[in-house]
Amino acid sequence: MAKAPTKKPAKKAKTTTKKVAGKKVKTKTAAQTAASVKTAAKKTVAKKATTAAKKASSKSAPPKKTKQSKSAAKGNKKVTGYGSGGVDVVMSVDQVAKEAASIAANAPSQKELLKLAGNEPLLTINSLRAGYGKMEILHDFHLEVAKGQSLCLIGPNGAGKSTVLHSIFGFTNIFSGKISIGSKDVTNLTPSQKLSEAGIAYILQDKSVFPQMTVEENLLMGGFLKNQPAEAKAAAEMVFDKYSRLADRRDKPAGVLSGGERRLLEISRALVMNPEVLLVDEPSIGLEPRFIDMVFEILDDLQHRDGKTIIMVEQNAKKGLSFADLGYVLVSGETAIAGAGDDLLQNPDVGRLFLGG
Ligand SMILES: Nc1ncnc2c1ncn2[C@@H]1O[C@H](COP(=O)(O)OP(=O)(O)O)[C@@H](O)[C@H]1O
Ligand SMILES: [Mg+2]
Repeated sequence: MAKAPTKKPAKKAKTTTKKVAGKKVKTKTAAQTAASVKTAAKKTVAKKATTAAKKASSKSAPPKKTKQSKSAAKGNKKVTGYGSGGVDVVMSVDQVAKEAASIAANAPSQKELLKLAGNEPLLTINSLRAGYGKMEILHDFHLEVAKGQSLCLIGPNGAGKSTVLHSIFGFTNIFSGKISIGSKDVTNLTPSQKLSEAGIAYILQDKSVFPQMTVEENLLMGGFLKNQPAEAKAAAEMVFDKYSRLADRRDKPAGVLSGGERRLLEISRALVMNPEVLLVDEPSIGLEPRFIDMVFEILDDLQHRDGKTIIMVEQNAKKGLSFADLGYVLVSGETAIAGAGDDLLQNPDVGRLFLGG
């Protein structure tokens, strides 16, 4: 099952622009984000550098090294990943990938993944090969998640975590394989069809709120696929009933919202279409620690009270795995380890590679 890591395009060390839902969304590199949330990073507890990290740091710097891994190489123990919620990266990305690839020798079988989903999956990804342009990023990828379950994807940068979400929502080129919801084949639906016909929503974030538009206008945009504007309006009212924090500010420009409220608005906007499955890419990114807990509480509520199925990517592996029922560790476009979130938190390999010791 394990394959040698495939060649990837070089990632620029600058702010990159990703196309999301036809919109260009600026994304920051870990190093930039870390720099912009210095204060949060300072508060983060420094973790012990593992032996492997020390080994990695004694090697010459590979070209893709980020700021954070460079400082790790200098023996600086106050190294954090995204700097926003205690992501304690103590190894270089390359080293993590190398180590994790060797763990991938025991990659979980499809049967095991099915069992984790209680043998009754709502969303299934079967033998998916997908990527961007002609480049294949996901290789023979499987995923099984039951209705009302939450799954968190963790793994090194560039492993293909976001690409899994992109593939589910229809942002990638699918070369082969199948994605289904229940008995419905949704592999080749467009993002709008995913949202309006398959009940899958991708939560846009990080600068996706229009600051000059009011909170209400931003929210109503989530209902742009509704046939009747009145339906979107009614759905927006339901969101306001649920979140007074947004209702109190409905006529204010969204630019006045705090970071946490903005993330709430981004999540809520996806709720206007009343999706069954929520795809959430790094809900904690760029947030102050106090807002991170709030966002996880909101997601918890959506899962446990509203029965939503959640598939998330989270750099903050500890938070993500504590939240989610299931966790997959992705390496080079394949799942190296899968298990219950709590079990992965206890898994020594996961701990060493992703939880900082
Ligand atoms: N829009 C894109 N076009 C081309 N390559 C991309 C695009 N987005 C991501 N990639 C590449 O796909 C690989 C996996 O990226 P991604 O899924 O974003 O990783 P992760 O979310 O695990 O950090 C990386 O090599 C990345 O450079
Ligand atoms: Mg990503």
